[in-house]
Order: sequence, then C-alpha cells, then structure tokens
Amino acid sequence: MSYDFDTVIERRNTACLKWDGTKSRFGVAGDDLLPMWVADTEFRPPQEVVDAMLRRAAHGICGYPADMEAYHQAVAGWMRRRHGWEIHDEWTLSAPGVVPAVNLLIRTLTNRGDGVVIQPPVYYPFFSGVEENGCRLLTNRLLFDGERYTMDFEDLEQKLQLAKLLVLCSPHNPVGRVWTREELLRLGELCVKYGVLVISDEIHFDLVFAGHKHNVFAALSDAFAQRSIVCTSPSKTFNLAGLKPGMVIIPNARIRRDFRHTLLACGIGNPNVFCLEAVKAAYEFGEPWLNDLLDYLEGNATFMRRFVAKEIPRVRMVRPEGTFLMWLDCRGLGLEPKALEQLLLTKARLVLNQGYTFGPGGEGFIRMNIGCPKAMLEDGLGRLARAIRTL
Ligand SMILES: Cc1ncc(COP(=O)(O)O)c(C=O)c1O
Repeated sequence: MSYDFDTVIERRNTACLKWDGTKSRFGVAGDDLLPMWVADTEFRPPQEVVDAMLRRAAHGICGYPADMEAYHQAVAGWMRRRHGWEIHDEWTLSAPGVVPAVNLLIRTLTNRGDGVVIQPPVYYPFFSGVEENGCRLLTNRLLFDGERYTMDFEDLEQKLQLAKLLVLCSPHNPVGRVWTREELLRLGELCVKYGVLVISDEIHFDLVFAGHKHNVFAALSDAFAQRSIVCTSPSKTFNLAGLKPGMVIIPNARIRRDFRHTLLACGIGNPNVFCLEAVKAAYEFGEPWLNDLLDYLEGNATFMRRFVAKEIPRVRMVRPEGTFLMWLDCRGLGLEPKALEQLLLTKARLVLNQGYTFGPGGEGFIRMNIGCPKAMLEDGLGRLARAIRTL
C-alpha cells in the first residue's frame, strides 16, 4: 500500500462534528470517548488535494470564483473513468452538499401533499427532506432475511402508484448494499411505468468492495436518464464534507431548467474557491489513493467481520458491499434501543449511530464508521465487546 491510512490524526478542537460535537448531539463529552458515528473519515485527503488548497490559501485572496470549465472537465473525467458514464458539462450543477441538493430537488419537483417514496432503514435526513417540504412520506421498507437486505418490489409497486418521486440511496446507507444492475433496472422500470421521478443519491458511489459494481442509475438507460437526477459528491470518497462539494447531475433539460430556477431563487452559486480546487485535484489525481483506500476499508471490514463473529457472537454484522458504514444487528441482546444507546455511551464510551434513527426496521441495530486507522477500529471493537460482555 503506497498511502498511509494508519496514522491517527488528532481532530479534537478542530470544530469537528464527529469529535467536538458529541456534547450537543449526545450529551456526552470527554477525552475517553471514541466517536465512530457521523460519516466522515479519519483520513487526510490525497496530498495533491491538500496542496491545491494550500496553494490557493497562499495566494490569499478569496474573491468570487470562476473557472467552472476545469471543474466540469474534472467531474466529467471522473464519471467516465470510474463509472463509465458520459456526461455533458451543462448537466452538472453544483449545490452546497447532497442533503441540500436532495431537499431542493424535492421542493422543485413536487407540490404540497405529493407522495415521495424512500426505502428505510435509510439515511435519516431523507425523512425530514420529504416532510419538511410538505410532502407525504411513503415508506417502502427494505426486506432483511437475517443476512442481506433486498428491495420489496411488490410493496414498491403499490407505493409508486401514490408517488411523484422516489429518493434512492445507492449504494445504500446504512445497510451497505450496492444495488445490482438487475435490481436497479427493476426499480427504474417500475418508476417509468408509474411516471415517478428518481432522485438518486449516489454519494457513496466510489466506495464499493471487490466483487460488486456500482451502476449509476441515470446511465442504465435513456429512459432512466430522462427521469432521474443523480446527486453525488467527492466528499465521502476523499473526506471533503466540510467543503460542501455537492453535485447535481441532470440529463433532462426541463428538470435542469427547473432546478436552475430553484438555485437562482435561493441565490446559490458556484462552489467556494477551496471546494473548486479540492474537487479538481481529487478527480484529476486521486485515483491511486482511492484504490488503496478501498483495499484498506475492505481490510477493516474483513477484520471487523471476523472479530464480531468470534468475540461478540450475539451481534451479527451485515456483510457490507460498499461504504465505510457497518451495520450491526444487536437485536439478539434483547435491549430496548435507548438502553443499547446508553450502554454504548456510558460503558463503552463509544459514539455510534443508533439504528432507530434510520427509521422503521432500524430498531436494535447500530451503525459503526470504519473509515479510520485499524488501531482505532480495534479500540472501538474492543470497547463494544467488553460492554456487551457486562450484560
Ligand atoms: C446517503 C447520503 N447522502 C448525503 C449525505 C450527506 O451529504 P452532504 O454532506 O453532501 O450534504 C450522506 C452523509 O452521510 C449520506 O450518507
């Protein structure tokens, strides 16, 4: 491995949500806490990305940015090389994050009371994104056979008949599925049949393990391209979330025009200067780093799977196909969700995401972020095992 993912980098007192925000979020603080919750990683981005931002900072002046051409080229190059997707420059609009993008798209594409389908357990801002924008939440719960999650297509077909939009999470946070081409085709064909638009949140699209392949939803067919919007970002891949580098890729000219109006109405313009530099450098130079990162994450996931099976057999880890977010079935412990949360916070001093926050089907599960040096993961797993042994 040519890159260093092992060094533990101190992040406390850097106004960092994961490490500094536990008091306001969970009511706990202290140097003995190990936060493995919110979805950013403990890794420094590739040196080329850091250097690009340092060069910009050294120049000193941070006036209004332009140079969107180079940004578009970098984005298009990445989509072509990593995802086999040919996009035109004008398809890509930027937004200050994928969550704002998804929410603004819901605002743009629906009227009050319209139905929007989501597939819980799922990334929790999808719930508020639908409800806070005056829409009706239609939940198409994923099926779980104790090993693997799949989509419930029968229920989906019912729900789509009441819906205007579907928000897809692909790859899926938190259950770690990388949806197959067949699954996406089946979902997409149902959406075409019932005239439902798809907002495809593909923020984890680069983080896919060996043996699995991510398919960009809009790249699957022209019909899907015309009915979908792909929201993505280099933020998970390269640990750039604080720069808010959201991208909204819209092949359909009418949807694009409408979304442009929304951006204009909100006064949202180009990404900030550091974001532009970082995205360009990440997409131009970041591939070798990403290839190593994927090996490292897969190594962490394999280590964790073996550890959980051997040391915490009452907990079952759902086999991940991608992302750095591991999903653990703790229902065998027989604890109420709040009791499980307290056990982890007080006994293990471990901050994880509680499954119930991801909606129906998440109760009794926990989500653990393994985007960290292996030593940190070992520490976290040791804490988890010891706390569970006290039960
Ligand atoms: C599926 C999904 N969408 C969006 C986000 C956040 O995106 P952003 O930080 O760009 O708003 C996350 C972060 O965890 C996520 O998992």
